[in-house]
Amino acid sequence: MRTVLLDKAKHDRNRFNCGVEPLNNYLKFMASQQAKKDNTRTFILEDEANQSNIVGFYTLTMTPVDLNALPDKLQKKHPSSISGGLIARLAVDERYKGKGKGEWLLIDALKKLLQASNTVGFPIVVVDAKHGAQQFYEKYGFTAFRDAENKLFITIADIRSSFD
Ligand SMILES: CC(C)(COP(=O)(O)OP(=O)(O)OC[C@H]1O[C@@H](n2cnc3c(N)ncnc32)[C@H](O)[C@@H]1OP(=O)(O)O)[C@@H](O)C(=O)NCCC(=O)NCCS
Repeated sequence: MRTVLLDKAKHDRNRFNCGVEPLNNYLKFMASQQAKKDNTRTFILEDEANQSNIVGFYTLTMTPVDLNALPDKLQKKHPSSISGGLIARLAVDERYKGKGKGEWLLIDALKKLLQASNTVGFPIVVVDAKHGAQQFYEKYGFTAFRDAENKLFITIADIRSSFD
């Protein structure tokens, strides 16, 4: 399995349904435009039997990090402003849920962000876990920010050591 960049001429965005309308709509109406402006990158996991079918997707970008919302230990380590890699969206189509695709997409996204951090340097990865997915991310080592329940982070150091 591998992810490819969203190609609106190839991928059937209208058929994608993860059960969360704002995420479906993002993929349909925003993802391609945002990529064209170099604001985000959206990666697609295709169904191998029919590559126009979208199994799942995630969207990556960067985000400023509120230092006050980090645990004390990390605040001490990073006293001035930092940016984080952001998993802005991640979703699996209803037809493919519960088969390990979400886990696979998350690991793939973290590998890409780790690789990016080797070039541009940023110390944490943030995820927007709206729509009740907070526990999904906690299972993979993410911690909630102090100020927002549905915003979580993991350090690049922890990602690196989990892949070593
Ligand atoms: C959350 C989501 C990506 C999980 O995808 P999935 O392919 O069904 O998940 P997987 O089959 O890879 O599950 C991996 C593990 O996470 C658990 N899990 C899945 N969804 C979960 C959720 N919403 N909360 C807590 N745990 C969850 C599974 O039980 C499984 O655990 P196990 O290995 O102990 O059995 C998917 O349900 C989805 O697209 N939801 C709607 C969109 C969304 O909420 N996205 C996240 C916010 S942007």
